[in-house]
Amino acid sequence: MTKIISYCKIKNLFLLYILMSAVVMAVIFYSVKISFAVKSPKTFSEAIKKGKAYFFKPYGVNGKSCATCHLLNKNTKKGKITIPAIKGIARFFPKWKNNKIYTLKDQLEHCIVYGENGFRPKKNSNIINYLYFYLYYLSNGYRIKIVPSIKMH
Ligand code: HEC
Repeated sequence: MTKIISYCKIKNLFLLYILMSAVVMAVIFYSVKISFAVKSPKTFSEAIKKGKAYFFKPYGVNGKSCATCHLLNKNTKKGKITIPAIKGIARFFPKWKNNKIYTLKDQLEHCIVYGENGFRPKKNSNIINYLYFYLYYLSNGYRIKIVPSIKMH
């Protein structure tokens, strides 16, 4: 009889132990999840700020950000290559390039991979979406200019 009781006690203690550790694990998991969660913007201006932050933050391995190469208002030259100013740039997109529709998102991907030596981001990733939003915002009021040639500015 006593054997059975002590067995039950041990079993209950064991179950209690499992339960407690499950609770502890859940608390740890939840707090880690909260601390890693990216705060997503709630307002228009927060979303613009986020796009701007991506513009100034290096993403790839060469330490360059968009702002390292692109000025806001002025085209710059690096050797023979012209680096276009960013303001108003979205008006040239989509382009007709290499017999395909080439969107601003394609261009962002290109500059991230070849300008910043970064991993190719997904088209609907945060970095692409917020940069896209920010660049269109900086193109407010400019007249759209979609022409057959890719050399336009
Ligand atoms: C290493 C320098 C460099 C970096 C870094 C860079 N770019 Fe560029 N970008 C260029 C050059 C050069 C061109 C023009 C030639 C080309 O399309 O590759 C260009 C073209 C563009 C264009 C298209 C202009 C047009 O009308 O065709 C956009 C938009 C653009 N960059 C945005 C960005 C953004 C946003 C970032 C950051 C994610 C970025 N670039 C990072 C050098 C850079």
